Amino acid sequence: MSVRTQVLSALLRSDNFISGEQLARELEVSRNAVWKAIKRLQEEGYTIESSVKKGYKLMDDLDIISEPSIKQHLRGSYIPSSIEIHKEITSTNARAKDLAEAGAPHGTVVIADSQSMGRGRLGRSFFSPSGTGVYMSIVLRPELTSEEAPQLTSLAAVAVSEAIELVAQVNVKIKWVNDIFLNKKKICGILTEASLDFESGGINYIILGIGINVGSTDFPEELSEIATSIENETPSKISRNQLIAEILNSLDRLLPEIKSGRYLEEVRSRSLVIGQEITVIKGSESYRAKALAIDNKGALIIEGPKGIEALSSGEISIRL
Ligand code: BTN
Repeated sequence: MSVRTQVLSALLRSDNFISGEQLARELEVSRNAVWKAIKRLQEEGYTIESSVKKGYKLMDDLDIISEPSIKQHLRGSYIPSSIEIHKEITSTNARAKDLAEAGAPHGTVVIADSQSMGRGRLGRSFFSPSGTGVYMSIVLRPELTSEEAPQLTSLAAVAVSEAIELVAQVNVKIKWVNDIFLNKKKICGILTEASLDFESGGINYIILGIGINVGSTDFPEELSEIATSIENETPSKISRNQLIAEILNSLDRLLPEIKSGRYLEEVRSRSLVIGQEITVIKGSESYRAKALAIDNKGALIIEGPKGIEALSSGEISIRL
């Protein structure tokens, strides 16, 4: 761990001033190294008060995403196995995929403050401005068949919903299968990409990409009617670090439940679509249907022009 990260951890742990001498002693580095780390953190935007007599104190971290701040809230055992944080990146899913191809283990997490080419489903882009969102991808290596893999998206939607509800004290809804809504507008999209092993019928790895609009955000015109952010809808100030940690905690707790399907009760109780008229989009084809239920594999049961059908993955739209 770099001296910068160790100094930040120590400042986060302490409610009082800590002297440069104490920091140097605890971290077994020189006082000059501590001073340089403090300078660097201040340049990054951390408000660190320094007093010749008392030492240093972190006043306000302006919700800068950092590993020590995330770790303060972590409770799980397997996820994350490691965390990589970028100020800006093309796409955390693309980076996580590269890491997975190079053998990164289950639970490797990539987070960015902004994405220049954030990817959404069906080749769409995902609006990823800096300072306000959570853009995170997790490498998963679950023991699932390719038929079972789509359930991961539903499980992730529950994990993210629980985390948002805990941190922001709001009730959210899941628009099957990968969107989370607050007050009838989208606040989160999930993009799950799998690498399949054709010989065994199993999975090499899955990249679970999660994008959440958190801070107060001005959306471009084409999104302002359909998207919102947590802080645009609530008076509370949300810590992105805490939200990230709570998502990882929920995933760590829920992933072992995937085979039992217990998490599906949570999917059903938060569903925005059950009982609603929807439009099913399959490639260039689209048709109207009624969403009836979510079955024990997470598939959406619909009644459309061809009768009753189970959609295990896919795109639907709903008029709210
Ligand atoms: C959607 O709404 O269509 C899915 C959006 C998924 C966006 C997230 S942000 C983090 C990760 N990296 C990406 O490039 N996309 C996903």
